[in-house]
Amino acid sequence: MKQYKKDTLTINWEPEKCIHSTKCWRGETGLPTVFNPKEKPWIKPENEEIETIIAHIKQCPSGALSYSLNDEIVVDTNAATSITILANGPLLCTGKIKIIYPNGNEEEKTNNTALCRCGASANKPFCDGNHAKVGFKG
Ligand code: SF4
Ligand code: FES
Repeated sequence: MKQYKKDTLTINWEPEKCIHSTKCWRGETGLPTVFNPKEKPWIKPENEEIETIIAHIKQCPSGALSYSLNDEIVVDTNAATSITILANGPLLCTGKIKIIYPNGNEEEKTNNTALCRCGASANKPFCDGNHAKVGFKG
């Protein structure tokens, strides 16, 4: 996980989870002053107010972006669990879920999680954006 700090806020970035939705930086949902993949570093929290940045982090469908306040990761415990099937892409899970692996290990996920539906992810069970590269339809 990579982290970018501004005062009490830490933006957490897990690149292997990014499904390249472009929501954080492009179009009406984007905040390119903070999230700009054409620049280095690609996240610059110093450019906007903390509340504005948090509102945009919450839009990340994959959970690749999350945030901490005073070094405590913030979890939306009120979010109802839902699963959205993204056309030609992953299952987007919102809310708290538990993943149980074949060896019995369990992993809890909160907020947003994208699960691979195409079989091409190198980070299963999570989507890593490879559905676009392999031209998954479904
Ligand atoms: S998945 Fe999240 S981090 Fe990746 S481009 Fe979309 S909004 Fe940005
Ligand atoms: S659905 Fe995204 S990599 Fe498989």
